[in-house]
Amino acid sequence: MTTPQNAPATPSTPDAAAPTRLPQGKMPELRVMPAPSDANVYGDVFGGWIMAQVDVAGSLPATRRANGRVATIAVNSFLFKQPVFVGDLLSFYAEIVKVGKTSITVCVEVYAERNRLQADVVKVTEAQLTYVATGPDRKPRQLPPLDSLITHE
Ligand SMILES: CC(C)(COP(=O)(O)OP(=O)(O)OC[C@H]1O[C@@H](n2cnc3c(N)ncnc32)[C@H](O)[C@@H]1OP(=O)(O)O)[C@@H](O)C(=O)NCCC(=O)NCCS
Repeated sequence: MTTPQNAPATPSTPDAAAPTRLPQGKMPELRVMPAPSDANVYGDVFGGWIMAQVDVAGSLPATRRANGRVATIAVNSFLFKQPVFVGDLLSFYAEIVKVGKTSITVCVEVYAERNRLQADVVKVTEAQLTYVATGPDRKPRQLPPLDSLITHE
């Protein structure tokens, strides 16, 4: 089991070393700090808890694009690249990478500020999920045209 105390030294590969800052010019969809109840007795946060937060974060841009309800149809990929510990401040960045007739595919990246310190930032998780716009009958609904959406930018 890995704990903050006995975690291995960060490998010197470029992927593990970068980034050392949160993504610049982007707003996280969610910022959450896992509590002791989200972790095992060693302080490692459960993967299922992270997956739930990723699903919520990814659903937010999908819901805006669909202008209404969406359902998660697929988790296309999920990589837990680094462990997450109780007390890490997690930021979830979500970006639409593909849009179909009824579906929206979103990439979610999760960064941890270890011990709540912005100076120690680690990319911990990356996932891609697909959502489907649904109607009140819970069946797939065609996405509205982009120019019909109200934006606040
Ligand atoms: C979401 C749901 C309404 C879609 O209905 P469906 O009849 O299965 O959907 P379709 O086969 O018509 O596919 C709808 C879209 O999803 C896409 N899709 C289907 N299977 C997919 C997969 N495995 N991966 C990625 N996209 C997929 C299709 O390509 C289609 O996209 P497009 O319209 O942009 O071309 C239905 O599957 C459902 O209710 N699933 C349960 C959702 C849920 O409860 N999620 C929470 C997890 S427990």
